[in-house]
Amino acid sequence: MNQTISIQVESPVCGTQEAWASVPDEPAADERAGLMERCRGLLAERDAVLVAHYYVHPDLQDLAQQTGGLVADSLEMARFGAAQKASTLVVAGVRFMGETAKMLSPDKRVLMPELDATCSLDLGCPAPEFAAWCDAHPDRTVVVYANTSAAVKARADWVVTSSCALDIVSDLHRQGRKILWAPDRHLGGYIQRETGADMLLWQGACIVHEEFKALELELLREQYPGALVLVHPESPAGVIALADVVGSTSQILKAARESDRSTIIVATDTGMFHALQQQNPHKRFIAAPTAGNGATCKSCAHCPWMAMNGLRSLEHALLSGSGEILLDRELGARARRSVQRMLDFTASHKGAQAPGSLVPGLGAA
Ligand code: 13P
Ligand code: SF4
Repeated sequence: MNQTISIQVESPVCGTQEAWASVPDEPAADERAGLMERCRGLLAERDAVLVAHYYVHPDLQDLAQQTGGLVADSLEMARFGAAQKASTLVVAGVRFMGETAKMLSPDKRVLMPELDATCSLDLGCPAPEFAAWCDAHPDRTVVVYANTSAAVKARADWVVTSSCALDIVSDLHRQGRKILWAPDRHLGGYIQRETGADMLLWQGACIVHEEFKALELELLREQYPGALVLVHPESPAGVIALADVVGSTSQILKAARESDRSTIIVATDTGMFHALQQQNPHKRFIAAPTAGNGATCKSCAHCPWMAMNGLRSLEHALLSGSGEILLDRELGARARRSVQRMLDFTASHKGAQAPGSLVPGLGAA
């Protein structure tokens, strides 16, 4: 029923680690309809709200939308979960998203369809080695990406997501702060180039976005000269350089909605195409290439850990209470400080969170 995928994660401190993801097969139409119906009922019965990321299966995204939950990027997921009255949050995404929900809502029950759904950035940044790196650079402000464990967040001054990283680091740079950045080297490099900040970068990467190929993207763009190119900043520098807009998943969606280009090339997880197509039924979306020179296609533009989430595991979690995120209260409280700093910053800079590298004339064809 499940396909087990083996994944190699490279880390500056652990070398190459072997990881795995167990991806469920598609339920047949009648099983799927029954699962949707039962999950709908269970969410109501258990006083639970479903918060899903754009990369998870379309069924989970639809269910979240139909039941008063949310489909969003990681920043909005964190904000939404904390504002809910429901006693249970069900987070369909990867582990760090469930942990962030728990640290912001310690008195709520936080369930995940798949507790083993992790992230190569989180795996590649173990807390003890990260703490030693921080200790070696006491003069720097520690900024970590949300795709990290609670223990890494607890050691940080700031947590950022891809939708606010640029604004927060710009602000710190304006204050004259030097930055210690972890774990994504591509996002860190992008922010460094955009802001000119003094940043030391941990050398982690996302196995999905790292696969996008600049040369092949350039060739694709030549094939579709009028196309808009949208890129998630976890992608390599050469791919980012070809973007009309660089942004988080929500910022990519916003740019697609606001543009009047009819053809849009997208360099992010293919899970995004569900929301992109739903919101823009008359536009054509093309996946940026992951194959080509030097391609290994470890991920083929779909996160194997996001793909672990399915209707069957959601039903199981709701029925049995399995997949509960348990977080040490004291650790959760320490990690929460740096997450809360981000939420406070973004709340007071509303409207400033623009995606990067906006082309002049976006939306003007
Ligand atoms: P967003 O914050 O853009 O949703 O990204 C999260 C993520 O894991 C992308 O790979
Ligand atoms: Fe992590 Fe990449 Fe998967 Fe996002 S897409 S959860 S960054 S491995």
